[in-house]
Amino acid sequence: MRDGRLTQDPGLQDPDLRTRVAAGLEAARRRSLAYTDIDDAELARQHSPLMSPLVWDLAHVGNYEDLWLVRALGETAATRPGLDGIYDAFRHSRASRAQLSLLGPDGSRAYLREVRGRALDLLDRLDAPSGGGGDGDGDGNAGLLAGGFVYGMVIQHEHQHGETMLATHQLRAGPALLAPGAPAPPGRAVAHREVLVPAGPFTFGTSDDPWAYDNERPAHQVNLPAFWIDTLPVSNRAQIAFIEAGGYDDRRLWSTAGWQWREQEGLTAPAFWWRDGDTWLRRRLGRVEPVPLDEPVQHVCWYEAQAHARWAGRRLPTEAEWEKAAAHDPATGRSHRYPWGDTPPTPDRANLGHRTSGPAPLGAYPGGASPCGAEQMIGDVWEWTASGFTPYPGFRSHPYREYSEVFFPKAGESSTFRVLRGGSWATGAPACRTTFRNWDYPIRRQIFAGFRLARDAD
Ligand code: AVJ
Ligand code: FE
Repeated sequence: MRDGRLTQDPGLQDPDLRTRVAAGLEAARRRSLAYTDIDDAELARQHSPLMSPLVWDLAHVGNYEDLWLVRALGETAATRPGLDGIYDAFRHSRASRAQLSLLGPDGSRAYLREVRGRALDLLDRLDAPSGGGGDGDGDGNAGLLAGGFVYGMVIQHEHQHGETMLATHQLRAGPALLAPGAPAPPGRAVAHREVLVPAGPFTFGTSDDPWAYDNERPAHQVNLPAFWIDTLPVSNRAQIAFIEAGGYDDRRLWSTAGWQWREQEGLTAPAFWWRDGDTWLRRRLGRVEPVPLDEPVQHVCWYEAQAHARWAGRRLPTEAEWEKAAAHDPATGRSHRYPWGDTPPTPDRANLGHRTSGPAPLGAYPGGASPCGAEQMIGDVWEWTASGFTPYPGFRSHPYREYSEVFFPKAGESSTFRVLRGGSWATGAPACRTTFRNWDYPIRRQIFAGFRLARDAD
């Protein structure tokens, strides 16, 4: 069981939950507006075939809110008719979205304000049911509203697009979009260390976290053999050692598909890195700086992570191993929402929400350690796992197939995606927990992803 206030008092009559929802919507919106506070031409431009124009993301989050917090909750008319097709992610590839007749920047902002006004009016008028676990089955609004699920979904969705918009900024090479906040806490000297996670069952996934997405459900017991896992993510220092040992040129370290991609793209270092004499430099959010050695490496694809792991005589953890190392408390047998327990993240425990402009140094969050001693599992960098994106036993799509289900492999096929865990410095706290599953293609490098190493116990 995972506890926390929401599961004890899940109804929307809870004034605390309403306040939290309103504040959560507001915080996600602040990010969307900040990331689109640049000139109009830049907002409408396609900066990379991998990404949407920023102005598409902006109005898309408003359209999603109109669908789920306005129309799904009782209003019959769209806030603005005719927009659903344009902002449906499944109708248009990211690379084709600049050609659509999109709302302009001011029009998008006005649309967002209008939708938000209607959503908040509706929140005030709702008389939500209490009880239930957010596990709806078509019984009107109940499945959407239990524990405030649909509000959590929309808040998380906007944060997820916020992170996507930051990746667009990273690709765009534009002026710096650095975080205004305080710097991350300093790291501490930590020797390379791995910990043994003994064999045994643990609770994988969740059935009672009211804001969990369908793909995190249901909770199920998984019995894992013992394994070793590093207490910290792989550092830039270790990635440089891999480079200098010829790792990018050693065919034997790469899978067939990985080598093919490495050859085709001429990969020789993480994305946004280059060498100047003896120094490795990187461009991050428009600023050039020396690569800091004792930070988690980011902007590596799954194939690079896999090759590095082979070079180190290790492997990537499976998704279940990652979650057991992050969430399982052997003293109680319970899994927790965060490595440190069930209380929400604080700045001394995890680097989330773009408070800083990148991962914190290694060892910066001893207070965020999990029971087995693994640190920086939440925040800093997404961690590639060995696993494809597949449904848990008993999975039920909720509330729509296009969030998760359409990304699962067809019967008899294997996943073309790899699962990432733990969130990054750019991930909004509401979209981060030990059960949260992210996925992407194994070639992707623009996301804020690194990795952590593991190995079998025998
Ligand atoms: C979970 C990051 C793969 O961006 O495609 C955003 C999140 N889903 N809007 C994506 C998402 C719908 C999704 N990822
Ligand atoms: Fe979306």
